[in-house]
Amino acid sequence: MLKLGNIKLDMPVIQAPLSGYTDRAMRTISRRFGAPLTFTGVLLDKIALHKKAVRKLLFQPGEDEHPVGAQIIGANPDTMAKAAAAFEKIGFDIIDLNFACPAPKVLRRGRGGSLLCNPKVAIEIYKCVRETVKCPVLIKLRSSFGTDDGSREGFWQICEEAAANGVDAIAIHGRSVKQRYRGLADWGIIDEAKRRFPNTTIIGSGDLFDPETIVSRLGSNSADIVAIARGAIGNPWIFAETKALLAGTPKPEPPGLTEQGQVILDHFEMIAQMRTAIKAVRYFRKFATGYCKRHPQRKKAQLALMAAKTPQQLTDTVKQWYGL
Ligand SMILES: Cc1cc2nc3c(=O)[nH]c(=O)nc-3n(C[C@H](O)[C@H](O)[C@H](O)COP(=O)(O)O)c2cc1C
Repeated sequence: MLKLGNIKLDMPVIQAPLSGYTDRAMRTISRRFGAPLTFTGVLLDKIALHKKAVRKLLFQPGEDEHPVGAQIIGANPDTMAKAAAAFEKIGFDIIDLNFACPAPKVLRRGRGGSLLCNPKVAIEIYKCVRETVKCPVLIKLRSSFGTDDGSREGFWQICEEAAANGVDAIAIHGRSVKQRYRGLADWGIIDEAKRRFPNTTIIGSGDLFDPETIVSRLGSNSADIVAIARGAIGNPWIFAETKALLAGTPKPEPPGLTEQGQVILDHFEMIAQMRTAIKAVRYFRKFATGYCKRHPQRKKAQLALMAAKTPQQLTDTVKQWYGL
């Protein structure tokens, strides 16, 4: 069985971190459909300096969702190490260091993707965290900062030092920081990372929206593991479908309307446990688009779900449109 550090994975396909999405509710749904490992969205290291904040239910991993990783971001090695220790202490099984985030306010503060231009600090962060926690540590990078700014060198330096110092995996999103989400991801860099670091687990990310593509991205010359990101929003079935293809069996029948509706209701119920009524309904809307893609009257169903203003209205609308 494939291992990531001490974590056993029954398939090489995991849930990528997605800020604003992969809270406990989405992680639980992804896990239910077969994701063997999930991650929080990125968490600012400084949160961990406030013990009360970390103890909030929102940050705690659920008892039934292991293994689950916490992804942290910051620019100070010492604070990052403290954050990693705090998240390990409250039960996260793996720590992921974000050297990838392209958000302008993150870059302005020297965090996330900007560390590709500052590889020494990134390496220092990695080493401090590695020395501090016992659990597996991985790093997440974009392939460079811009196209011709020399940051590809920074990318390789970080990979090389991390690989030489026992990183459990290197996750690569094959887009530059400046590219954000435009254009296609470059899987050539992921293949090259595997060639350069054959003994390090490489996790590939980018444009994984259907099981056939996902399976084709795994292989001896490429990623050992792939991380599904946008492709899993409102579409947890992607994990079960991919698992079937990997096992050489046909894809399961597409979920019927009532199954879809029940998953939506379960997802919303978990969201509502963590938020006030109005916030839960608003927060759920970003998942509705994904879920409705499988509905035969996609647009109309989506409009109806978006129009709901209270949990009761939302639940009634789901029941109405999904025949429950
Ligand atoms: C809304 C959104 C939020 C994201 N949040 C994170 C995050 O918190 N941490 C991270 O490492 N990557 C984050 N990513 C990047 C994804 O994990 C992934 O690497 C990227 O979307 C490429 O995969 P895809 O093309 O299959 O979506 C985010 C992407 C999106 C679209």
